[in-house]
Amino acid sequence: MSTTCPSSLFADLAEKSWSIQDGFFTPTLIQQLAEECQRQQDQGLLREAGVGRAEQFTVKKTQRSDQILWLENGMSASTDLYLAEMDKLRRRLNEHCFLGLQESENHFAVYPHGAFYRKHLDRFRDDDSRIISSVLYLNSDWKAGHGGELRLHLADQVLDIEPVANRLVLFISAEIWHEVLPTEVERLSLTGWLKQRK
Ligand code: OGA
Ligand code: MN
Repeated sequence: MSTTCPSSLFADLAEKSWSIQDGFFTPTLIQQLAEECQRQQDQGLLREAGVGRAEQFTVKKTQRSDQILWLENGMSASTDLYLAEMDKLRRRLNEHCFLGLQESENHFAVYPHGAFYRKHLDRFRDDDSRIISSVLYLNSDWKAGHGGELRLHLADQVLDIEPVANRLVLFISAEIWHEVLPTEVERLSLTGWLKQRK
């Protein structure tokens, strides 16, 4: 388990606003999270994702076509462990980067065959509470050619990141434009935000 964060994480975020951490969690936790995501989906508990917040919320299938389920405390042992780990990460980021992060929110996301999420920033027009975005991938048999890459639009390059199991991607929510390319196979992830209070 990630009792210590690699220092590359803090340096990456400070220097380039994004970081890729492979093998951040135990393989067991990743497997349990993947199973939990699949179980919730089999029970029909995931909902079409929308864009915008509160009154502005709308489902726009031309913008994104994934399905999500917000994690809540007590949902399962594995999701509780994940929430505890994200809270540890939140505290470490505060110690190292003085970010004043106070909470996190996290959701499972399933991208069915053909699903995508067009280029966007993880910030709402009327809400600047999201500081760090996190995406943890749960796809144990991901192969090149399956699509579904996370594409980061950086100042000097376009970077495509494969959504392989136990890869954690972190980036500064207000800075990094990104998209999810259409996937050829079902794609599972856990996406979240470390937030400051409004
Ligand atoms: C998001 C998002 C990226 C990914 O949910 O806002 O950009 O790789 N997800 O799943
Ligand atoms: Mn996003």
